[in-house]
Amino acid sequence: MADYQPLKGQKALVTGASSGIGAAVAKALAGAGAAVVVNYVGNPASARQVVSEIHSANGVAVALEADVSQETQVLAMFDAARREFGTLDILVNNAGIQRDSAFTQMTLDQWNQVIATNLTGYFLCAREAAREFLRRGVVPSVSKAAGKIICMSSVHQVIPWAGHVNYAASKGGIMMFMESIAQELAPHRIRVNSIAPGAIKTPINRAAWETPEAEAKLLELIPYGRVGLPEDIARAAVWLASDESDYVVGTTLFVDGGMCLYPGFATGG
Ligand code: NAI
Ligand code: BGC
Repeated sequence: MADYQPLKGQKALVTGASSGIGAAVAKALAGAGAAVVVNYVGNPASARQVVSEIHSANGVAVALEADVSQETQVLAMFDAARREFGTLDILVNNAGIQRDSAFTQMTLDQWNQVIATNLTGYFLCAREAAREFLRRGVVPSVSKAAGKIICMSSVHQVIPWAGHVNYAASKGGIMMFMESIAQELAPHRIRVNSIAPGAIKTPINRAAWETPEAEAKLLELIPYGRVGLPEDIARAAVWLASDESDYVVGTTLFVDGGMCLYPGFATGG
C-alpha cells in the first residue's frame, strides 16, 4: 500500500472493475487506503485476479457479482457490500459497453443494451449509494463529505460520434444525470462528479490501438501524442474521491490528452 493514504478508513464500490479502467481504479482506491468492492459480471476469474492483486499489496477487497442494469441484482450487491464493510463512502459508476453500428442498421437491442448498462446502471447504483450516504451522514473522522459518486463518462459526452449513436447518447445522458443529482445531493454533503476519459488502452477499444497503423490513426486525435492508460484515469479517481477535492461538485474532469481541443484545427480552419 502507498504511504499517502487519502482514503484511509473509507469503503468504495467500483462497477465493472474486473478489467480496464475499473480494475485500475479499484487498485488505486485500495492503494489509497479504501476497502473496495470489485463489481463484475460474468467473469469471476478476472475479478478474483484484481482482488488478489489488492490483497498482495496489503489492501482490502472483495468481489461481488451484479449486472448493474438489473435492479434486484444491484440491491442485493449493495446489501452484500454493507454486510462486508458496514457502510459505503465512495461509488465509482464505471461499467459501460459499446454496441457499435451505423445508425440505420442499429437494432433496438443494440440501443437498449447500451442505455441499460451505461445510463440505467448508473441510476440504479447511484441511487443505492446516495440512500446509504444519507442514512449514515457525515463522519468527520472519515471524510468531510457524506459520500462521493464518480461517474465514468467519456469525451463523447460532448464529441458527437457517428456509428456509435447509442454510446454517445448514453454519455451525453450521463452528463445531465450527474449534474442533476449533484445539484440535488450537494446540500446533503454528497459530492457527485464525472471523469471524461479520452482514448484509453482497454478491451473496449482494442481495435483502435492494437496495431501500429490503428494507433497512428488514433494519435491524430490526441494532441498530447500518446494513448491514455487506465492508471491515468485511476489517479484522477483517487483525487475526486478524496477530501483533496472537497469543493469540487458537479464537475466533469476531462482526462483526454487534449482530445477535446479540436486537433484538426491545429493546422486547419
Ligand atoms: P472494459 O470493457 O475493460 O470495461 C467495462 C467493464 O464493464 C467490463 O469489466 C465489463 O464486464 C463491465 N460491464 C459491462 N456491462 C456490465 C453490467 N451490465 N454490469 C456490470 N458490469 C458490466 O472497458 P473500459 O474502457 O475499462 O470501460 C470502463 C468505462 O470507461 C466505460 O464506462 C467506458 O464507457 C468508459 N470509457 C472508456 C474509454 C476508453 O477509451 N477505454 C474512454 C472513455 C470512457
Ligand atoms: C470509447 C473508446 C474511444 C474513446 C475515444 C471512449 O468513450 O469507449 O472506444 O476510443 O472514447 O474516442
